[in-house]
Amino acid sequence: MKSLMMQGTRILATGSAVPDSSLSNDEISKIVETSDDWIVTRTGIKERRLLTGHNKSVIDLAVVASLNALDKISMNPAEIDLIILATSTPNDLFGSASQVQAQIKAFNAVAFDLTAACSGFVLAMVTASQFIRNGTYKNILVIGADVLSKWVDWSDRSTCILFGDGAGAMILQSSIKEDNQLLGFQLNTDGNQSNCLSLVYKEEINSHPILKLHKGYFKYIVMNGKEVYKFAVSQVPLSILKCLNSLNISINDIDWLLLHQANHRILKAVADKLSIDNEKIIMNLNKYGNTSAASIPLAFDEALSQGKFAHNDIIVISGFGAGLTWGTIIVQWKL
Ligand code: UT7
Repeated sequence: MKSLMMQGTRILATGSAVPDSSLSNDEISKIVETSDDWIVTRTGIKERRLLTGHNKSVIDLAVVASLNALDKISMNPAEIDLIILATSTPNDLFGSASQVQAQIKAFNAVAFDLTAACSGFVLAMVTASQFIRNGTYKNILVIGADVLSKWVDWSDRSTCILFGDGAGAMILQSSIKEDNQLLGFQLNTDGNQSNCLSLVYKEEINSHPILKLHKGYFKYIVMNGKEVYKFAVSQVPLSILKCLNSLNISINDIDWLLLHQANHRILKAVADKLSIDNEKIIMNLNKYGNTSAASIPLAFDEALSQGKFAHNDIIVISGFGAGLTWGTIIVQWKL
């Protein structure tokens, strides 16, 4: 019988995966009219990783990141009860999580995809924590993985410079309430601004002569960079404040600010608006660019492996992006 007690959630392990192939700003400037100086000044990005090779997909990255997390704690994949794969670039529109489940041999796990672009990992973590809190599942593997390089218009210099491919994974486990690490969350959606950043399905003009059905296709990422920038800088600090206030945590208590790795100017502007010391910003977008749903778990895994997090550190995590969607999770690290 499942317990109806509110359980705590612990982060047991993290893992990550990036493709071997990298693309520098100088190399991109041979494809579109841009420069290393422009990209670094406007975004902070120096290079990004691209998933090259025939038949390689988001599943390959998600599998490596997941096995990496499982290996760190020598966990048997059969112990995983649920897999949530946050991705906007699935290999199969019916879902890619089940293929990850099969490849990592997590045969007892239920698996599904969750689509919320760059906020995907935050939403997946919150979704997972609800299954844990109500006692339904004990061990949950949350993955953020994207291969936006497959959906970028490589002739559009305003978008192709930004994105990279990667995957990050996190294993969550139910714990006693005293060991809870996920203190709270705050989530938002504004569908009225969905056209600021989209990868929409386009229908052909000609319909089927008898059925009158219109077939279509997905094309490229389309973005109004200025509007997305303004949205992020104005809304993310509000989400963080709402979340902190609901938990009676003050800005001064924050040890780390881990934002979706979109643009160094956005990260600094959010920190400055909240009067958070820039030293507390976790940033690795210079190496990977914007990896969408993967960016938060990639940065988390890297910070953890660098030994950044100390016992009881307060880590503010915020995701933001297409939808538009944005949200915050407050983690208290426990050794
Ligand atoms: O997960 C969320 C994903 N989205 C984002 O994070 C996007 C948020 N927005 C941004 O990061 C910024 O808006 C960008 C980095 C995309 C663009 O920076 P910006 O300071 O907003 O530049 P802009 O779009 O206002 O463009 C300034 C100029 C324009 O030329 P003119 O009209 O002033 O002559 C652009 O055509 O820079 C030009 N430009 C470029 N020049 C060299 C645009 N892209 C490039 C480029 N290289 N790659």
